[in-house]
Amino acid sequence: MSFLRNTGLCVGAAVLALSWAQAQVASPPPFAFPVAPPGTPPPATTDEVAHLPGSSASFTLKQVRNGFDVADWHPGDHPPMPDYVKHGAAPNVRACGYCHLPNGQGRPENASIAGQPSDYIVEQVVAMREGRRKSSEPRMGPPAAMLALSAHTKDSDLKIAGDYFASLTYKPWIRVVESDTAPKTFVDGTSMLNPTPDGATEKLGNRIIEIPESVERTELRDPRSGFIAYVPKGSIARGQKLVESGAGTMPCATCHGADYKGAGGTPGLAGRSPSYLIRQMYDIQHGTRSGPKVEPMKFVVAKMKLSDMVAIAAYLSSRKP
Ligand code: HEC
Ligand code: HEC
Repeated sequence: MSFLRNTGLCVGAAVLALSWAQAQVASPPPFAFPVAPPGTPPPATTDEVAHLPGSSASFTLKQVRNGFDVADWHPGDHPPMPDYVKHGAAPNVRACGYCHLPNGQGRPENASIAGQPSDYIVEQVVAMREGRRKSSEPRMGPPAAMLALSAHTKDSDLKIAGDYFASLTYKPWIRVVESDTAPKTFVDGTSMLNPTPDGATEKLGNRIIEIPESVERTELRDPRSGFIAYVPKGSIARGQKLVESGAGTMPCATCHGADYKGAGGTPGLAGRSPSYLIRQMYDIQHGTRSGPKVEPMKFVVAKMKLSDMVAIAAYLSSRKP
């Protein structure tokens, strides 16, 4: 009897230890999947008038935050936005150009879609609509918003948006800095990491901290003001080795093109947001992004550790797009 009880205890402890280990593995890294704490105020939507360097336009903060009529600071930087890209389809589909910016450069909490193949862009939104693609961190606001709006999209509109963003050239947007430390950050009301106002720094460890070059300009959704990514010392060189060997599988260039700028309908990776790249490798590894088109990627990420993903993202983001 006491023998049985002891085994029971051991098994119980083992199960507990195992589920603890699984919980550790299963929790997505918060630096790449930032979740705004409940109660974080959304950005201000007042009638205060805002300006940006290099733009003769002026918008109120309310206009800057209008997801159904994108404030276009630099209309000369891109072809005219199709109506769907600028206005979306009220009340459920906010404008693609609002979150991804009129020039498609995107932000760390969403994705750069400028210059990605049109069919690929359409397929990603359809994959969300049909349940093949969702985030490993359902509490992260922006991917949840993208997922929700995908349910209301029509293929004919997506084709217009896909053709528009595919016609744009993705420009250098992220400055990658190797460092042992990074600014201490908090998650703002747009689910973006911002440096704390006191200018404090902290140990970077095995993370990538991606923040705006200028918090003020990014808050105004400036499509010309990019981001800085602090990456661990030595990670760019380590990432290059992993990318060139395919992390022990097949070199990434085989499918993503010699310069990682995309090839044959496969998306470009060069110069894209490292936070975004990590989210995708993590989601594919954990099966929240799947489907026939994702099959070729599954074996590539299957055995990757988070530290590999960090190094790979550091290297790829540092490449010229
Ligand atoms: C509310 C903000 C928001 C709006 C509006 C929005 N998106 Fe997104 N989109 C996102 C976020 C956030 C992601 C990244 C999801 C993730 O990290 O998993 C994303 C991802 C994507 C991707 C995947 C990019 C890639 O490289 O695989 C595509 C394509 C895309 N969006 C297209 C669109 C189109 C087309 C529209 C307009 C119909 C649109 N989005 C509107 C927030 C938005
Ligand atoms: C055998 C072909 C193949 C190889 C090798 C490959 N990929 Fe991919 N990868 C793909 C395809 C195809 C997609 C697009 C999947 C889809 O349509 O949803 C993709 C998508 C991705 C994405 C998501 C991009 C986005 O915009 O959302 C990332 C990140 C990525 N791959 C990273 C890598 C890295 C890093 C390597 C090397 C370690 C690699 N891939 C090797 C075929 C490949």
